[in-house]
Amino acid sequence: MKSIEVCLTHQQLKNYNFKGKIVIIIDVLRATSTINTILYNGAQLVKPVETLEECKKYRDESYIIMAERMGKKVRGFDYGNSPTKIDKNEFEGRKVSIATSNGTKAIIKTKGSKVSILGSFLNMSSLIDFINKNSEDALIVCSGWQGSSNIEDTLCAGGIICGSKTHSIISDNAIMAKELFESSKNKILETMMGSSHAKRLSSNDNIKDIEFCSKVDIQPVIPILKDDYLVLM
Ligand code: MLT
Repeated sequence: MKSIEVCLTHQQLKNYNFKGKIVIIIDVLRATSTINTILYNGAQLVKPVETLEECKKYRDESYIIMAERMGKKVRGFDYGNSPTKIDKNEFEGRKVSIATSNGTKAIIKTKGSKVSILGSFLNMSSLIDFINKNSEDALIVCSGWQGSSNIEDTLCAGGIICGSKTHSIISDNAIMAKELFESSKNKILETMMGSSHAKRLSSNDNIKDIEFCSKVDIQPVIPILKDDYLVLM
């Protein structure tokens, strides 16, 4: 029977063999929620990058350039990493480069998988359908925060695991994620508000982002990594 595992931070990804596997990268607050929203609003592609310097270079190619550090927009970029700032009129048809503290690094690290796709609450059921229809093992990579696991990514991973009818659970990380979701599925926003990153974002007046990122299945699309770019599947 195919299996599903959970890696709780992108720094731990070196401990996992993900070749030939479906890899789902999660950064609920906010990178994968933001990228899902950008593509859902018609952007042509999103280029995840690690460094601010690389991200800024894309301005010369008429990209919208976005950067976040420590939960805040970086001066000199068009946008930070807020999904509630994504305007269809601005983003439709555009190319976007984005650099965030953890999420874009996590995405880039998964190159070499069978397929790398992005997960958040916004597209959770689409991800569940995808893994249930495919025969490969799956690895969920939670971005975490600066090397530590976080509530919101683990909670989302648990939601995907709970929805999977075809994968066996083979690790305590997956069991913990599943049990977290089973105990919190009717209070996702409340649970997220208790997270350390929600507290950081709240202090930056980003409450709207936290509320938005808790909305389940409002954007039924799947961002997929193709030749270093993210596009809709
Ligand atoms: C991250 O990449 O760690 C997050 O997306 C940070 C944020 O947007 O607040």
